[in-house]
Amino acid sequence: MPNANANIKKCAAIIAKTTPGFKPKIGIILGSGLGAISDQIENASTIDYKDLPGFYVSTLAGHSKRMHLGMLKDVPVVCLEGRTHFYEGAEATASLKTIIRTLKIIGCEILLTTNAVGSLRVEHGPGSLMAIEDHINFTSQNPLIGPNDDEFGERFVSMDNAYDSDLRQKLLSIAQKINIPLNTGVFVATSGPTFETHAEIRMYKMLGGHAVGASTVPETIIARHCGLKVASVCAVTNLGAGLSKEILSHEGTLRGAKLATDNLVKLFLAFIEEITKK
Ligand code: HPA
Repeated sequence: MPNANANIKKCAAIIAKTTPGFKPKIGIILGSGLGAISDQIENASTIDYKDLPGFYVSTLAGHSKRMHLGMLKDVPVVCLEGRTHFYEGAEATASLKTIIRTLKIIGCEILLTTNAVGSLRVEHGPGSLMAIEDHINFTSQNPLIGPNDDEFGERFVSMDNAYDSDLRQKLLSIAQKINIPLNTGVFVATSGPTFETHAEIRMYKMLGGHAVGASTVPETIIARHCGLKVASVCAVTNLGAGLSKEILSHEGTLRGAKLATDNLVKLFLAFIEEITKK
């Protein structure tokens, strides 16, 4: 996408025109069926992705395609309903750079993401939450392949502390305080769009994975490249293929996401309130 930077500047200008003087601190990306957090934003201004140049309009059910800007617990946030995945193709991946870098230039310091995942631990089933400690990128893709965009970050990016340990500790202590079970673990990213085979699930477990899904990792990589801190919480929608009798489907993912939504919303609200306290 040769004019990606031009798009980022255009998006920033559109956002500034829609919400003059508004400077979000936290960017939030919502996974499949996890849009409920955006309902909590006070006095939200909403912009459709189709009005933001370079924002890819995902056609996936359960993913709306809107940006909401407003206050959550007195903290200025921008919330993205609708993300893109590697399996949607090169245009979608390029769009992810536009999306994350737009968040950066409008002022965000933190990227908070959610996703729907299959759990690799039978004891942590549908409805449970997992803060990502680290990831294994099993997609054989990387959104930073191609010419480096020096305006946003360096060519070679450290993935140390990719999921910010201070933010994760805060998530854990807040979860404990408000009595919401929160596990931690390693997220394995696949390219999708297929669900995994039973053998793949056994392999991911052997490799040290705790949950599997087809999103999040590209966002984390792009965010770290441009210096955003990242925290990510997975909503377990099912056990990994073969760990239960369920035949996996996107409808099942959306059903499973509903089980996690209430706790996820409570956790994020409490977390957002806490992290901006001085
Ligand atoms: N695998 C991959 N992606 C997913 C899953 C899964 O089991 N559940 C929700 N998203």
